[in-house]
Amino acid sequence: MNLLITGGCGFIGSNFVRYWLEHHPGDHVVVYDKLTYAGRRENLQELWGDPRLRLVQADIADLETVRRSCQEHGTDLIVNFAAETHVDQSILGPLVFTDTNVRGTHVLLEVARELGIRLHHISTDEVYGHIPDRHQSIETDPLAPRSPYAASKAAADQLVQAYHITYGLPVTITRGANNVGPYQYPEKAVPLFSTNAILGEPLPVYGDGRQMRDYAHVFDHCTGIETVLLRGEIGEVYNVGTGREMTNLEMVGIVLDTLGKGHDLVRHVTDRPGHDRRYSMNVHKLRALGWEPRYDPRQAVAEAARWYAEHRGWWEPIRSGEFREYYARQYAERLADQEQR
Ligand code: NAD
Ligand code: TYD
Repeated sequence: MNLLITGGCGFIGSNFVRYWLEHHPGDHVVVYDKLTYAGRRENLQELWGDPRLRLVQADIADLETVRRSCQEHGTDLIVNFAAETHVDQSILGPLVFTDTNVRGTHVLLEVARELGIRLHHISTDEVYGHIPDRHQSIETDPLAPRSPYAASKAAADQLVQAYHITYGLPVTITRGANNVGPYQYPEKAVPLFSTNAILGEPLPVYGDGRQMRDYAHVFDHCTGIETVLLRGEIGEVYNVGTGREMTNLEMVGIVLDTLGKGHDLVRHVTDRPGHDRRYSMNVHKLRALGWEPRYDPRQAVAEAARWYAEHRGWWEPIRSGEFREYYARQYAERLADQEQR
């Protein structure tokens, strides 16, 4: 099979490309990636010499290039990981989220329709919005996104479903929980807290830190997507997570304990506007296809923290580059306010 994997140089995409080539040795993969700040060639460093793997550096919103790439490589399946992905970035500069997540996905759907290609879309639990205690989102729940990021992902999901209903395009969607693991850009909470702890810098916890997330290992997300690609029903949506949540303070405690650092590094800083208190998904539909997660959330967070301790050579160049500007913009005032209290 010939796969076009968009966003394959990002966190989850690169883990998926590595997983797929190892478990499906007869397949060929084109990574189609714009290489934004979050997309890094080095995330697939050891694989670039593999004749089964190619890179096209381009934007998913560029219809001509998407079409040409699919035609030249005889694409049978598009897996769409490409997105702007960070909620805090979507608060600072939301328009690019619409350009990539909504229009980019729409362009992929148009090319898939024209050339008759199956499209699998990677979505998120954030499209369900804040989930009150005791409820777990199921795939047919109404979408109620609350951040510009989540709203752009929800819009994309609805376009994907509309293309199935209107044109009969063969599509599937997976909605992943908060992923953790190797190669996650350190703007996200677990790699940010892990790398800050390793450097002895404060950990900026938004608000009271009692927000709840399902921290799932990226490996289990990859096997969940594989399960849907091989056995999922066309036109259907599948949640992918562990089905268990913890508070951010619990997550921070696991990171600090794993790295042997003191809890005095924690700083409660001004909260994120519109911060969703809780995400929680029911994952029975995916389990019914025979999928089981390998990691529980505590193991997932601890494994991720250890990976950052063992791979300083991956994240140190990121943290010393353009990331510093973002970090100052996002945290300098918050941390200074906290020190004055
Ligand atoms: P990431 O930010 O690490 O990587 C995104 C990738 O997309 C990068 O390689 C980037 O260069 C590429 N990209 C961005 N804009 C592009 C464009 N216009 N054209 C082509 N490529 C472009 O993101 P991630 O965490 O790996 O997330 C991957 C997907 O999974 C996203 O769709 C995201 O919404 C979804 N998701 C993420 C999580 C999570 O916890 N990280 C959870 C659920 C779902
Ligand atoms: P994040 O990794 O940004 O994922 P999402 O917002 O998409 O769930 O954040 C995970 C949780 O950690 C979320 O509740 C916000 C919180 N958080 C902090 O408390 N401080 C931070 O500096 C960051 C980046 C996140």
